Amino acid sequence: MAKRIQFARTGGSEVLELVDVTPAEPGPGEVRVANRAVGLNFIDIYFRTGLYPAPSLPSGLGTEAAGVVDAVGDGVTHLKPGDRVAYAQGPLGAYAELHTLPADKVVVLPDGIDFETAAASMLKGLTVQYLMRQTHRVEAGETILWHAAAGGVGSIACQWARALGVRLIGTVSSPEKAALAEKNGAWATIDYTKEDVVERVRELTDGAMCDVVYDSVGKDTWETSLDCLKPRSLMVSFGNASGAVEGVNLGILNQKGSLYTTRPSLNGYADTRERLEAMAAELFEMLESGKVKVDISSRYPLAEAGKAQDALQGRQTTGSTILLP
Ligand SMILES: NC(=O)c1ccc[n+]([C@@H]2O[C@H](COP(=O)([O-])OP(=O)(O)OC[C@H]3O[C@@H](n4cnc5c(N)ncnc54)[C@H](OP(=O)(O)O)[C@@H]3O)[C@@H](O)[C@H]2O)c1
Repeated sequence: MAKRIQFARTGGSEVLELVDVTPAEPGPGEVRVANRAVGLNFIDIYFRTGLYPAPSLPSGLGTEAAGVVDAVGDGVTHLKPGDRVAYAQGPLGAYAELHTLPADKVVVLPDGIDFETAAASMLKGLTVQYLMRQTHRVEAGETILWHAAAGGVGSIACQWARALGVRLIGTVSSPEKAALAEKNGAWATIDYTKEDVVERVRELTDGAMCDVVYDSVGKDTWETSLDCLKPRSLMVSFGNASGAVEGVNLGILNQKGSLYTTRPSLNGYADTRERLEAMAAELFEMLESGKVKVDISSRYPLAEAGKAQDALQGRQTTGSTILLP
């Protein structure tokens, strides 16, 4: 038997329960990983609350972890028992001691990256990789606006932007979060709970505005974000921390300056093993070179996953949080 967190109905963190399950044997093309550290992500809350529907209930939760390969199914050639690995995609169920998933979603960890660092950065760091190197390949000297800059994804984005010579303006909800984002390399910060974001962006850029806005807050910031862009530039909406953006009238992109917009996901970019491995190699290089240092601000026992989610949803966290099986 092995322990995992599951939920039988959607709702608040009280629906999460720690149960004993018989771990699935890996089928053809699958591996089973003994998790040493598990990543906590906002998407886990979307599944728990039902904003994103789980394929079936009861369901496991979580898609990000690092650990050791425990067993491999037929046809798996790039992994063997004992390999140190990490993953950020695949079926829900990473909040567990053992998780079985497609081997194509699992990459071997370089010796220099420990399990906690990997669990705290695979999903968030691969997200920053595709957003800044693929969705739009940011160039030195460009100015970008990044919402929730002191969060898990945001903390990695600030450091990656600094390494690329990009001027990242980060939004945050407190002076402490502003200080953290600036320490991580944000060129400037704006408290979006108190300041007029559009006016501050105008001042900071001498009226030029931003080349790209990266918005994971969603409903509360969508329109402000469009107002922070240069004509003909790109709005990247990649999350819903405040609720989903709905009912968009496409004409608004015309009114705000012939803008472009996209709503990307990690699964849409890391959609083959080759692409995942290339993206992971770039992330691991950033981690091993020290250009990106992952800030693990909280660690919780697996059994306290609900408490960890409440802190994330309540805007109390900074950087990454991990769960320890
Ligand atoms: N599309 C993708 O591929 C992809 C992949 C990974 C993550 N994401 C998205 O990226 C975002 C960041 O993920 P994360 O796991 O690193 O979380 P996080 O940034 O550590 O936490 C979310 C942050 O959002 C801000 N926020 C603004 N309004 C909020 C509200 N009403 N409720 C809660 N938080 C609010 C808070 O920062 P302040 O207190 O500073 O406002 C909060 O700390 C999430 O929206 C997530 O869904 C998308």
